[in-house]
Amino acid sequence: MRVGVVGLGAMGAGIAQLAVEAGLETVGREVELERAEAARGTIAHFLARKVEQGRLEQQARDDAVGRLGITTDLADLADCDVVIEAAFEDLDVKRELFRELEQVVRADAILATNTSALSVTEIASALERPERAVGMHFFNPAPLMPLVEIVRAERTADDVFETAFALGSTLGKTPIRCSDTPGFVVNRVLIPLLNDCVRVLDETGVTPEDLDAGMKHGAGWPMGPCALLDLVGADVHVHASEALYAKLREPRMAPPPRLVRMLAAGKLGRKTGEGFYRYD
Ligand code: CAA
Repeated sequence: MRVGVVGLGAMGAGIAQLAVEAGLETVGREVELERAEAARGTIAHFLARKVEQGRLEQQARDDAVGRLGITTDLADLADCDVVIEAAFEDLDVKRELFRELEQVVRADAILATNTSALSVTEIASALERPERAVGMHFFNPAPLMPLVEIVRAERTADDVFETAFALGSTLGKTPIRCSDTPGFVVNRVLIPLLNDCVRVLDETGVTPEDLDAGMKHGAGWPMGPCALLDLVGADVHVHASEALYAKLREPRMAPPPRLVRMLAAGKLGRKTGEGFYRYD
């Protein structure tokens, strides 16, 4: 199987890493070659760390890196069996990409979207053949988080859904079957929960450090909510909250003002060096 990944940001690069580690020939597409090269560098780095930790053979690492092609041209995805779109979370951007991809790929190719909060059905409806579209929603950081949500849109064909489900397993993930409802399963739960956590900061006057320690040591979370929001990015989280709120109209879904202010100030978290915490 040959896999294409469109968009090599944190999620796309992580997905491409999984694909090459699983032995699949992979083409990653970015709008600028420098960004694609940077993503390949990140993947090469994480695979090298695995070698240093004794979790991967040097030859396997070199072979995996060698399986990753990069391009700026969507036409280079022509031979892919499955293309996973991991571009910016904007409905129009994703619909346009799907439309362009359909002109390029084979008639039997599957088009998957990694959207976290948009409707797969709305993205798929840009296609002449929406049956070929499916959601494959990975979690951040994709190489480390075991879950992938396989999302059946209104018109997803059964064989397309099952192929995406099997691909999730091939990539080493635990796939679950989801319907195309807002936030699917995990974000439907996690987004209002994280919004509650941010509101708690203001209501209780607790520090981010203490809230994080509370949820780690009192609720068994692997990382605290503020650290998690810094990992996800205020931009990504606010966008996803707004998308869920637009569909569900539940007040807990709306992004808390504190996060909206952080977004306006460019305090996005790890990616800008400051969020709830500072990063060097
Ligand atoms: N890509 C690839 N490899 C990575 C990586 C990445 N982004 N980040 C770390 N690694 C590798 C590194 O090589 C690292 O080893 P070194 O530090 O020695 O180099 C190795 O993985 C282990 O990293 P950590 O020691 O940081 O791993 P950990 O045991 O502390 O676990 C974690 C990290 C998996 C992130 C854990 O803290 C966790 O589960 N956190 C919760 C994350 C979570 O909830 N994510 C979901 C976000 S919501 C979402 O994604 C939905 C959405 O739509 C927005």
